[in-house]
Amino acid sequence: EQIEKGGYDHFMLKEIYEQPSAILDTFRGRLLSNEAIIKMVGVEDNMKKFLAADRIIVVACGTSWHAGLVSEYIFEDLARIPVEVEYASEFRYRNPVITEKDVVIAISQSGETADTLAAIKLAKSKGAFVFGVCNVVGSSIARESDAGAYTHAGPEIGVASTKAFTTQITVLTLMALRLARAKGTISSSEFRHHLIELEMIPAKVEEALKSDGYVQTIADIYKDATNFLYLGRGYNFPVALEGALKLKEISYIHAEGYPAAEMKHGPIALIDEQMPVVVIATKKGHYEKVVSNIQEIKSRKGKIIGIVTKGDKSVKELADHVIEVPETLECLTPLLTTIPLQLLSYHIAVMLDKNVDQPRNLAKSVTVE
Ligand code: AGP
Repeated sequence: EQIEKGGYDHFMLKEIYEQPSAILDTFRGRLLSNEAIIKMVGVEDNMKKFLAADRIIVVACGTSWHAGLVSEYIFEDLARIPVEVEYASEFRYRNPVITEKDVVIAISQSGETADTLAAIKLAKSKGAFVFGVCNVVGSSIARESDAGAYTHAGPEIGVASTKAFTTQITVLTLMALRLARAKGTISSSEFRHHLIELEMIPAKVEEALKSDGYVQTIADIYKDATNFLYLGRGYNFPVALEGALKLKEISYIHAEGYPAAEMKHGPIALIDEQMPVVVIATKKGHYEKVVSNIQEIKSRKGKIIGIVTKGDKSVKELADHVIEVPETLECLTPLLTTIPLQLLSYHIAVMLDKNVDQPRNLAKSVTVE
């Protein structure tokens, strides 16, 4: 097992560090920036279905559901296709309205999650076209889907999903860009610009990983907190949810993720000097509004950990700590902002002596209801 961990103390840490190469593997054969094209066989072969779709329904659970939420922003923003993101467990029992003009995207690392599998069987029985985004090759969901795209993240052993999440977002981003180009909702120069930025992501993830030492210092300061709040807006709202889930799963500390602007509608009552608040405040995307949320937290004496764009000044003046990530396009920020949040949960769990790779009560894939 030590050999399999490749010199890392835990699979989770190894998998966090594998993300630059995992994302590169996801790109392979698909992101052809020299030719300024994206090639995805499962999408090309079914382009008519995608172009005729009234909407996309994403079904998934847990972290994969968070990747689905990120994709809602990307598909709507770039390809102008309405998206609904559903918990597979709710969708399958709701007697949902599904038609032949729906495209259902099932996202699953393992490809074996019982609820997600049942949701796509239901969708297929109603005539919808099902596209699977799975990591495990030949898994049940991959086989049951009409078409799909593998994430190619390599085996993920840690129960807490890390590289599966970022590679799912990568596949979904490639899909959204490909469809946007086909629909003409993005200009060729904008498309090219996105490809260039996307290609730089693995190196930028590498750079984001350099925050590890500082994240460890922050983990040491807050490891005894009993609650954490995670806030983000737009593309980074799902990242806030994912950050909170990671902390809960492996450190057993209660954490909640919220859209930053929803804070005023309830969670703000929780803020006092005991409450660490992780705020994703990257330069693009409602930056000023998030800064004003940070001011509100500060005036209630909350402890602020800001995830900011490199060189940021405004948040630095207000926050107790800031962790920098490189600048990129707004739609690609989740691929970077998620890195310090993974590291934060990892280090807190290690410091609390928890079983990082196999947290209590959790299974890597939930194959029963
Ligand atoms: C992630 O850290 C979790 N362990 C869990 O939420 C997981 O993402 C969920 O069970 C879905 O699994 P899947 O992607 O294999 O379908």
